[in-house]
Amino acid sequence: METPVTPVQVTGTVLTTRRVEAYHALTVVAPGIAERFRPGHFVAVAVGGPQTSMLTRRAFSVHDVKPDYGGTVEFVFTVRGPGTSWLAGRRARDTLDLVGPLGRPFPLPRDPVSCLLVGGEYGSATLFGLADALQQRDCRVDFLLGGASEDRVFGALRARRMGVTTTLTTEDGSLGLRGTVTDALPGVITDTRADVVYACGPMDMLRGVTAVSVEFDIPVQVAVEEAMACGFGMCMTCVLPVIGDDGVTRMVRACVEGPVFRGERVRFDDVGTIPFDALGAPGAPGHSGARHVS
Ligand SMILES: Cc1cc2nc3c(=O)[nH]c(=O)nc-3n(C[C@H](O)[C@H](O)[C@H](O)COP(=O)(O)OP(=O)(O)OC[C@H]3O[C@@H](n4cnc5c(N)ncnc54)[C@H](O)[C@@H]3O)c2cc1C
Ligand code: FES
Repeated sequence: METPVTPVQVTGTVLTTRRVEAYHALTVVAPGIAERFRPGHFVAVAVGGPQTSMLTRRAFSVHDVKPDYGGTVEFVFTVRGPGTSWLAGRRARDTLDLVGPLGRPFPLPRDPVSCLLVGGEYGSATLFGLADALQQRDCRVDFLLGGASEDRVFGALRARRMGVTTTLTTEDGSLGLRGTVTDALPGVITDTRADVVYACGPMDMLRGVTAVSVEFDIPVQVAVEEAMACGFGMCMTCVLPVIGDDGVTRMVRACVEGPVFRGERVRFDDVGTIPFDALGAPGAPGHSGARHVS
């Protein structure tokens, strides 16, 4: 398991902004973060400027780090609400307050194995640094990327350049196979003889990818996107039920113990609840049903 790195807070200058299909990409000069980065890390970005009422930072996976200007960090995002709308309005030379790198990165195999990287929508962004690290270890890398439509499949060109094979899926059939990455996964695992699956994307996708990987009896590492507030372990907003090595379910923080977990350990069906059999759950064991957490 990777040793956690100490995150830093950086006021970085926006170097470039660009549109990538349906997404926005911001590159920020943030040397302290870039030099500590490992694939799977994320950053927590302050939004709204100094007078804002938006108190919580917004979490984004790191897409790329480059050595330019002492170290830059790029993240890719879709506009969802006020925080991401504000970010979409940033321009070169604006400043941004970032904390990172945060979370536990993807564990890397010791041996040169065959790795299948599965991404949904902007979740694919975090997979390219991982692909690079795996290829440096002589691992075979294949990609399976998907989205609702062609403009929501992130990184298809880069995947085609990096991967031995790249399979694309769209729900509306506008690019690649019609359907979801989960639909295509059994065939791709078989064709690529994958030894391990890495995945990032919406929770439903991760649940499906985990189920298929378990069927094929291959390990699966998933980077989850659980709603966050602080991003560094203080507020418990991001807890989800995960089974430990001892078989006991605990409510663990996605921002500190994750966001990367072994897929089969995440109780996807109980995310958003405290299962009655989780350690420290309110009520006695046998108490009816799960409790909802907001
Ligand atoms: C580890 C991690 C990595 C992420 N990486 C990316 C990425 O690479 N690109 C991208 O577009 N989005 C990513 N997200 C989701 C992103 O954080 C949310 O889209 C964003 O916080 C929404 O903020 P908002 O103000 O625009 O929307 P609102 O919905 O108004 O947000 C309100 C509040 O809810 C929280 N929130 C809402 N939705 C999410 C969510 N899905 N995940 C976490 N917090 C949420 C916000 O932090 C904020 O505190 C990631 C989330 C996590 C946890
Ligand atoms: S977001 Fe605060 S503990 Fe994880």
